[in-house]
Amino acid sequence: QHTRSLLRLEKEFTVSGQRLQTLVRHMVQEMKKGLAADGHQLKMIPSFVVRRPTGNETGSVLALDLGGSNFRVCEVYLEGQGRLRMRHRKYVVGDDLKRASGRVLFDFFAEKIEGFLDEIGADKAIERNLGFTFSFPVGQPALAQGHLLHWNKGFQCEGVVNRDVVQLLAEALNRRNLKIKVTALVNDTVGTLISHAYTDPQTHIGVILGTGTNAAYFERIEEIGKWTGPNETGEMVINTEWGAYCEPSVLPITPYDLALDRASTAPKMQIFEKMISGMYLGEIVRYVLLDLISTGELFKGRGSKKLDTPYNFETANMSRIERDHSLELSDTKAVLEDILGIPTTSIGDRRVVKTVCELVGTRAARLSAAGIAAIVTKMNRLDACTVALDGSVFEHYPHFANRMRDALREMLGITAENIILELGRDGSGQGAALIAAIHH
Ligand code: BG6
Ligand code: GLC
Repeated sequence: QHTRSLLRLEKEFTVSGQRLQTLVRHMVQEMKKGLAADGHQLKMIPSFVVRRPTGNETGSVLALDLGGSNFRVCEVYLEGQGRLRMRHRKYVVGDDLKRASGRVLFDFFAEKIEGFLDEIGADKAIERNLGFTFSFPVGQPALAQGHLLHWNKGFQCEGVVNRDVVQLLAEALNRRNLKIKVTALVNDTVGTLISHAYTDPQTHIGVILGTGTNAAYFERIEEIGKWTGPNETGEMVINTEWGAYCEPSVLPITPYDLALDRASTAPKMQIFEKMISGMYLGEIVRYVLLDLISTGELFKGRGSKKLDTPYNFETANMSRIERDHSLELSDTKAVLEDILGIPTTSIGDRRVVKTVCELVGTRAARLSAAGIAAIVTKMNRLDACTVALDGSVFEHYPHFANRMRDALREMLGITAENIILELGRDGSGQGAALIAAIHH
């Protein structure tokens, strides 16, 4: 019985090399549409970042970084000659804050910035520049201006959609009399790209595989048909917002993905993200397990309250299970007992759970590789391209990078060797500071 259901799941979740190639072709088309005009699946947001760092930037810049599971305040010292130092403080963004009002959220930022300045003994009378990494889709009419189009990744703070988030931050800083000027609004993908390009000029793409997923890359301005800003020549970083990609005819959407989407805070949105990123992978597995229990194929048909609770099976647990190579799958047993409250499992059951994690995790890696292949193809950079990646999934999920590399090889053959995937840990704060400095 196990074998039959596993075969079915394998069929549903496996993305063949051929399907990946179709996906790449379709994503390239959608990228072109998004560059030509607004209102398409891929928003392709011009970031106003038109310069790469030279390494000669100097000075001290603050950065604020709200994106995934954490919120950070950073001070970046640009020392010239390609050197920089950073001090930062990290805070967990709890569910309460994700659902608080916008005012509470921005006051929280200002409070933490002030606390940070006090902690490092900074002179608060000195005026400072700040780069704001805000990793949600924004309509960006200028480098330091952008209204939130919609929340995602479980955020639902009221009073922020359609408002300029730079202004909201400036107002909160004002309420605390902090002399800080927000000089750049930056997506985490853009920050990751720029900070990596600081040390490696071959870096053309920045990708986040974390709570959410997205990518940014350098595009030639003449390719951005919808660009109405100053007649710049050369390149500009484009924030693709690929998490919103949604093409049922090419994406391997399963009934589990549909169920997850229906129950999510933003149904019908961020479909690609819901198949790839850390906020959702564990939840997809939870839906599959519930299904196998309901048909009596798993755990003798017995579930648990904990497994019934939405988002209770975090992606970090999949990482643990995928890392478990013991004969008895003892860590898998521990996860099922401790996290899901399912104490009696046979080794057969545990193998099924592990296979489900592998299927869901592999699909995510292969889909994100397709996104990268689409960008590299669009840029015509198959000869040499470094991709800077950050986020908990890329950093911590076992085999993720290798599965991406396998998929790239299947799609691009030998040229896949020219695409270098590199971890750019904690880069987006540094990137935001660099952008604030070079564009000031
Ligand atoms: C951090 C970056 O390293 O990674 C953030 O500084 C980014 O800007 C985040 O949003 C993404 O990872 P996660 O896993 O926290 O969503
Ligand atoms: C979501 C956001 C995007 C961000 C990504 C990774 O997809 O819309 O802006 O880059 O998450 O944090």
